[in-house]
Formats: sequence, structure tokens, C-alpha cells
Amino acid sequence: MNYSFGKIDPSLIGDFVNIEYPSRRQFRDDETVERWKSIGHLYVNYTGLLREEYRGLPKWCYKISEYFKDRMNISKTSMSVYCMPPGTIMPEHRDMYHRYKDINDIDDDDICRILVFLDDWKSGHYFEIEDTPVINWKSGDYCIWYNDASHIAANIGRENRYTLQITAKVEK
Ligand SMILES: [Fe+2]
Repeated sequence: MNYSFGKIDPSLIGDFVNIEYPSRRQFRDDETVERWKSIGHLYVNYTGLLREEYRGLPKWCYKISEYFKDRMNISKTSMSVYCMPPGTIMPEHRDMYHRYKDINDIDDDDICRILVFLDDWKSGHYFEIEDTPVINWKSGDYCIWYNDASHIAANIGRENRYTLQITAKVEK
């Protein structure tokens, strides 16, 4: 199994609604998008709104990142807060970490991603990791996966779905 679940204290989480989210940028791997389309996933939006660290993030994000750095042997963390408005559907994929790998000059085998659910689960919010469905999460629940574990994220509900994504190098 290439993933595990845990929980942080939700009081570490600050305001994630009033962040200035930039406009959408579509998923960066054309081959994946073509594969989705070829099996019938014809959507307007495949990705949501990503506020990446280089644009500036609230302090509470760094506190959460420190929380994980204190407990795991990881380094070179990079964060983004991700808002998926209703109608955002990302079928099964593997994260490519193109930019992260370029900047940090590291191999696939050394990467992990921590996905922290910022809000309680709402109707229509979905996550799946290596064919395991995840719903009903509470604010502060998280999933960690390593390297290229496949996953799905979608919002077929009525309210925005918010997560904090931390990408890191796993030290051996
Ligand atoms: Fe992903």
C-alpha cells in the first residue's frame, strides 16, 4: 500500500475561503487528459483553483507544514491550497510533479504528497486513492501517498471543496 491516513488538530487550520485564488490552469499532462477523453470524461474543467506557495500563503499553512516536518523525515516542502468548485472533476491520474522536480532536482522515488482536508466533507465531494474511496472526512483529516499512487478528486456537489497539498522529498 502506497498511502496512509491520519489527522491533525483542526485548530491549526486558518481561513481558506478568503484566499485569493488564481484562475484555473488545466492539468499539465496532455497524455492523461487524452486518456480521460477517450473513455468519455468530457468535462469543461479538469482542475480547480490552485493557490501556490510562490504567490504567498497564510501563516497557518506553514505551521501545518512544520507539524509534518517535525514528525516525518521529509524536506523541501512545497505547498498549495486547492479549491475545487462544483463541477471540477479529475478522473484517475498520477501526479507528475513537473515543476517540483525541476526546482528541487529529485527523482520520482523520493516524493510524497500530503493532502489535508481543510473543511468537513460535504455532499458530492469525493476522493479516491489507489481504488479506495474516501468520503465523510472531517477538517484536519489527511492522506499521505508516495510517488505515483493513482487517485481521483471530484466535486459533484454544491459547495467548494478545499484541501492543502504538501509535496515533499522523503529523506532515506
Ligand atoms: Fe492529483
